[in-house]
Amino acid sequence: MDREFLESIARESSWCEISRSAIASNINSLRTRIGNNVILGVVVKADGFGHGIVPCAKEFIAAGADWLIVNFAYEAKVLRQAKITAPIYICGNVSAAQSEIVAETQARIVVYDRDVILALAAAARKTGNSVPIHIKIETGTHRQGLPLNEAIALAKFAAQLDGIILEGITTHYADIEDTIEHDFANQQLNLLQNAKTAFQNAGLDLKMVHSANSAATILWPKTHGSMVRVGIAAYGLWPSRETYATVLQNYATSNNGFIPNLVPVLSWRARIVQVKEVPTGGYIGYGRTFRATHPMKIAILPLGYHEGYDRRLSNLAHVIIKGVRSPVRGRICMNMTMVDVTHIPGVKVGDIATLLGRDGEENVSAEQLANWMGTINYEVISRINSSQPRFVLTDESDRPRTVLSEANQPLKLLSF
Ligand SMILES: Cc1ncc(COP(=O)(O)O)c(C=O)c1O
Repeated sequence: MDREFLESIARESSWCEISRSAIASNINSLRTRIGNNVILGVVVKADGFGHGIVPCAKEFIAAGADWLIVNFAYEAKVLRQAKITAPIYICGNVSAAQSEIVAETQARIVVYDRDVILALAAAARKTGNSVPIHIKIETGTHRQGLPLNEAIALAKFAAQLDGIILEGITTHYADIEDTIEHDFANQQLNLLQNAKTAFQNAGLDLKMVHSANSAATILWPKTHGSMVRVGIAAYGLWPSRETYATVLQNYATSNNGFIPNLVPVLSWRARIVQVKEVPTGGYIGYGRTFRATHPMKIAILPLGYHEGYDRRLSNLAHVIIKGVRSPVRGRICMNMTMVDVTHIPGVKVGDIATLLGRDGEENVSAEQLANWMGTINYEVISRINSSQPRFVLTDESDRPRTVLSEANQPLKLLSF
């Protein structure tokens, strides 16, 4: 989409703002945690956790991230088409049929399947690009990994093939962010370390061993290995309350505790498209789930559950208008949402409502939306529909207040 078209959409309906300074601050904080000898991989799968894969990937790399991590092969292609040259690691499921995309994009890939390795080797020969592979070790999550003996057998099989380079082994924690008891995660880490020794004893050379997601990166340096794979924290959000509680506990009880400075990257805003009166006794929305007990004024926002503003937020969430909380009234529709502005003087068509993020002294966080929806912050952000234009704002002064005060001016757009 071209810039003018995007700006015109943003001026008239709804959009997301990506804060460059928040990204820089998060990457800086994570780098401080891991030091310069560990690769900082940032997960940009799921459309950059709903923040926009291309603009965020560019910003993460500019801020000092080393690798980009995606789930699907096509996401590697999207990044290469955007002229992003950073190393890419594909952590999800890739079928044999997609192996040429892997080789063409010069991505590295997690593997657990002989047929895929054979297809990768063929693609490597065809394109002239060797494919580095990382074998996933089963340590207790029971998602992609292989038991150690099968992992070693697969590595030996791969070692005979031209075009395949065994680069590393990896695992993924089952519950590190779900608890303040980390015995299971420690067991998983021990199994990974035992696997490393077993690979070496089998004469299989490993350049990389990695396991750390955001929670592990923040909590335990012993998990950092050769690379961390940070998702949610790079977007300025905590993996969970349990992670936050453990950080505070570590800080209080050890002399090298670390509290990352995580700054939320995304704000989600919409333009009011209609303001109307509702008389006492009037209903609002489908199912007539809300009835006015007094004369009300409501504002209509041009987005709904299709855009990612979840229907479970009906009659529950707040948006912020002119720095004041405005409750959602009635059911959220597919492309429209009604909010109560009776108590906010002077609201008019064109004013901005903040669905997620800060406006003045008020803030609606991803965690608050998650609590209302009965889910986690990961789901809230990753389900913001890709139809929402993502604007990268230069710095804090560009963020909400400036934009809000210039309600009818185009946003300052850097990249999208
Ligand atoms: C294999 C893998 N590593 C790392 C991550 C990052 O997890 P988090 O967002 O908790 O940092 C994810 C999930 O996004 C993942 O699937």
